Amino acid sequence: MHKIAVIPGDGIGPEVINEGLKVLNALAENHSIQFDFQEFQIDAERYLSTGKLLTSEDVEGLRRFDSIYLGATGDDRVKPGVLEKGILLALRFTFDQYINHRPAPLWKPFGRLKRDVDFNIDVFRENTEDFYVGVGGRFKDKVGSKTLDIDRQLYHMSIDVKASSSVEDEYAYQVGLLSRKNTERFADFVIDYTKMVGENYITIIDKANVCSDIYGMWRDVWTEKCRQADMGFGFMFVDAMSMALVKNPDKFRIVATPNMFGDILTDLLAEVTGGLGLAPGGNINPHGISMFEPVHGSAPKYKGLDQINPLATILAGKMMLDNLGRRDLGDIVTKAVRATLDKGIYTQDLGGNAKTHEVGDAVAAEIRRI
Ligand code: IPM
Ligand code: MG
Repeated sequence: MHKIAVIPGDGIGPEVINEGLKVLNALAENHSIQFDFQEFQIDAERYLSTGKLLTSEDVEGLRRFDSIYLGATGDDRVKPGVLEKGILLALRFTFDQYINHRPAPLWKPFGRLKRDVDFNIDVFRENTEDFYVGVGGRFKDKVGSKTLDIDRQLYHMSIDVKASSSVEDEYAYQVGLLSRKNTERFADFVIDYTKMVGENYITIIDKANVCSDIYGMWRDVWTEKCRQADMGFGFMFVDAMSMALVKNPDKFRIVATPNMFGDILTDLLAEVTGGLGLAPGGNINPHGISMFEPVHGSAPKYKGLDQINPLATILAGKMMLDNLGRRDLGDIVTKAVRATLDKGIYTQDLGGNAKTHEVGDAVAAEIRRI
C-alpha cells in the first residue's frame, strides 16, 4: 500500500489532479498496486480564510506519507510570491527535495520546431538553493542593514548585511547561495542517474562568466565529481544554452542546472517538446518524501472550464510510480498517454478538442486495455 498525500491546490490544480488520480486508480484495478490517497487543503482558499500557508501541522501530517502529489499553487487574489514561497517552495525546502527532475522528451508530432529533430532530454534542476534561497532586502538613503536567515535541512545560516553607499537612492538586493555539500549530493544524484540510463555525458549550465563566485564553486564541484566518476561533462552558459535548446536540442541528453536557470530553461524546453501541457516534474529527496507536480502553474483563467491539458499531471503520476519503485507501471502510463495522443484525443493547447476529463478517461481506458 502506497500512502499518497494529495494537494490539489489552486486554479486548475484540482481538475488536473482529478485526472491524475483517475489514471492511478485505473492502474490499481488491474495491476498489483494499491494506493491510500489522502487530500490536504493547503491552498489559496485556506490562506484567504485563515491566513495559513504551509503550517507545521501540515508538515507533520505530510510526513506520514510516501509521496506528495500536487496540482498547482497560485491565485490572482493573492499577491505574487505569497503562495508560491509560502506553500510550494516551502514544501520543496522543508522536505529537502534538492533535485527537481524535469524530463523533456519530444512528443511527436507536437514539437514546436520547424525542423524535424528527435531528442530526449532529462533536465536536473537544483531545487533548494541559488537565487531561490529567498533572502534579500531593500533600503533607502545611503545605508541598510539586515540579518538574512536561511533554514535548510543541511544548515541554518544567518548573513549580516551592512551596506553603505556613496549616493542616496533606493537599493534592492537578492542573495544567491550554494553550499558545497548540497552541490555535491546533487551532482552525485545526476551522475548516478546518467549512468543508470547508460549515458556518459552531462551538460552543466551556469553563468560563471558573470556570477563567478557562486558558479565558480559550482564548476569546482562538478569538475571534481565528474572526474572521480569518470563521467564526461561540459559547461555551457545559460544564454548560449537557451539558444541551443531551440537550435539543436538533439545535441543534449542530460542537463544539470542551478535552480533559477532551471526554472527558465524548463519552460522553454517544455514548449519545444510540445508545450507545458505535457511537462511533468519530480521534486526528489532520494532519502525522504518526494513530490510530483506538473511544470505548469495554476492558470486561473481556465479554472472550471474543463479545457486544460491533464497530461502533465498524469505524467507526474508516472514519475511518482517510478520513484516508488514501480517503473513497470510508470511505463504503462507512458504507453497509455502515447496511445491516447495517437488516437487524436487531446486538448486545445495541442490543437485538439477533447475536454480535460475526456483525456483522463481515455488514458484510464488505455490502461485497462493494456
Ligand atoms: C516552477 C514554478 C515555481 C518555481 C514557482 C511557482 C515558484 O515556476 O515550478 O517552475 O519558480 O520553481
Ligand atoms: Mg517555472
